[in-house]
Order: sequence, then C-alpha cells, then structure tokens
Amino acid sequence: MKTRITELFGIQHPIIQGGMHYVGFAELAAAVSNAGGLGIITGLTQKTPALLAAEIAKCRALTDKPFGVNLTFLPTVTSPDYPGYIKAILDGGVKVVETAGNNPQKWLPMLHEAGVKVIHKCTSVRHSLKAQSIGCDAVSVDGFECGGHPGEDDIPNFILLPRAADELKIPFVASGGMADGRSLVAALALGADGMNMGTRFIATKEAPVHQNVKDAIVAASELDTRLVMRPLRNTERVLRNAAVDRLLEKEKTLGANLKFEDVVDEVAGVYPKIMLEGAMEAGAWSCGLVVGLIHDIPTVQELIDRIMAEAEALIAQRLARFAAAA
Ligand SMILES: Cc1cc2nc3c(=O)[nH]c(=O)nc-3n(C[C@H](O)[C@H](O)[C@H](O)COP(=O)(O)O)c2cc1C
Repeated sequence: MKTRITELFGIQHPIIQGGMHYVGFAELAAAVSNAGGLGIITGLTQKTPALLAAEIAKCRALTDKPFGVNLTFLPTVTSPDYPGYIKAILDGGVKVVETAGNNPQKWLPMLHEAGVKVIHKCTSVRHSLKAQSIGCDAVSVDGFECGGHPGEDDIPNFILLPRAADELKIPFVASGGMADGRSLVAALALGADGMNMGTRFIATKEAPVHQNVKDAIVAASELDTRLVMRPLRNTERVLRNAAVDRLLEKEKTLGANLKFEDVVDEVAGVYPKIMLEGAMEAGAWSCGLVVGLIHDIPTVQELIDRIMAEAEALIAQRLARFAAAA
C-alpha cells in the first residue's frame, strides 16, 4: 500500500509506532521497522544523549530498515539536553524524528540540513497548521481517544481527521484509537495517509515491558481509562487503577487550587516501576480508549500482517461491494 507517508519515510506499510516513555526501546522500534512499519525510539527515556546514541546503535544492529526517534518537548523544570539528544540522532544517522509537545521550530533547521524528516504530533487543527507553516514534513493528528496527552479540546478523530484533511497540505497520520485493519481503512477514508499506534503496540511479544502491563491491557475495556491532570491543563489519558482513583479524588477535593506538587506521587517517576517492574498500582500510566479493542498479544509481525490483510480485504471486498451497488 503506497501513500504519501510510505513514500516520505521509505517504509512498506503506512503504520507508525508512536514514541512511548519506557516502552519505545530499540527492541520494539526494530520489530516494527522489520515488519514494514516505522518504529520509533523514545528519546527522553534514555537519561543522557550518550545512552540515546547507544540505543540507536542497538536498533541499527537489529534492523536495516528506517526507524525514528521521538523527542518530546514538555515544560519541565530542568530542560533536558536537547542539543545533545539531537546530536546523538544526527550522529546515529537517524532520518525520521517524531516531535511532540512544544513547538519544534528551533530545531528544524538542524534536522532538515541533515536530511531528517520531521513528523510533529498535534492534538488540534490549529497546531497542525502551525506545524505545517514552520516546515514540518508531516503531522500525527492525535484525537481525544489517544493514550497520553490528548490536549484540552476533546475532539475525537471522527471530526478531527476530516477537519485536518480539509486544511492541511502536508501528509498526516491518524493517531489515537487505532488498532486494526478497520482503523487503517477508516483513517484513509477520513483523509489520513496512514496511522500511528501507541497502546496497541504495547500488547505485543516484542514490547520490552513487564508481562503485567500487557495482561492489564488485554483485561481492560474501553470503559477503563480516565483523564487526569485536567485542572493543570496537562490532561493525560491513563488506565484506571488505585493510584488514578486517588489522584482523581485529590482533583475533586482541591478543585482549582490543585498544584502539580499535589499529584507528584501518582505521576512522577512511575514509568520504570510500571513498565519494567510490573508494579501496576505504582502510578498513572498512559493508555488509550483503544484498550477496548485489544484482546491478544501477537508478535509485531503478526499484528502488522493482520492489519494489512484486513485493510486490503475491507477495501477490496466490503467497500468495493458498496461502490458496485451504487
Ligand atoms: C504508555 C504510553 C507512553 C507514551 N509516551 C509518549 C511520549 O513519551 N511522548 C509522546 O510524544 N507520546 C507518548 N505517547 C503517545 C503515543 O505516542 C501515541 O501518540 C498514542 O499512544 C496514540 O494513541 P493510542 O494509544 O490510542 O494508539 C505515549 C502513549 C502511551 C500509551
């Protein structure tokens, strides 16, 4: 299946694995790229640029296909060494960077000069247009359904994607709520050139996270996510657990007086405990509504092959039937 996204990134299938904190290690990124998608290493999970360089080298040893690195620009008290991370990306010969969070404009000239394509993750049409205007090569349009940070507008992909299609000239992928061949065909129908998946890729054999995390995803339904940190305008969609219930109780009690310090126990530094040690109640961790569509733990290759076979059958059979009937 050729789309503007497969052409832009030199990949076989229009499927991207979004950067995920403490999930997007070399093993997963390489598995996705080897299966014909675009795997992405999460830059900031590596504590220093030297560690990111080592993770890139590890991924390079596992695949000869293109893969990317995610750089998340979030408002943090002490800013990570972004120039150092970018140097590691460029020195490592990585040709795709997924940016997210704050405007990546400052870093685009360096990346573009080195021939790197930049896909920026946006949760609104206005941010997508901004990304286009500053020279990003593509956008990942992240709807309200998504795991992680859906922004504050709460527009689901059935509206957000066609709105983006109407406005954008650069290619975009649909992100948030994507799980299978139906998702891919729907994304293409709504105007996207492919799809980005987060939560679905966690429940795969190669995802280097604790089995408890994968089992929690398979066990959960679409009713089991919650939005936290809305009063801080830093909304995150997470899987419900005891820590999330505690956090929501604090939000209710403190109302507009809530500060980040009040929720720090539930959200700061919890990812290694959850993803690596499987301590499922250690805090709030990102998870999309799509969890309701995830019922198994296949290999990445099986997952991507299944998605592509299902998408092609849907287009050639089910949809073709309606066109013929018209
Ligand atoms: C556990 C987890 C961690 C994530 N961490 C990041 C991150 O560090 N940076 C980022 O840009 N997006 C992050 N995301 C968002 C994903 O890249 C992707 O946009 C999102 O998961 C898409 O929605 P879906 O989960 O419905 O597929 C994370 C998502 C999950 C589920």
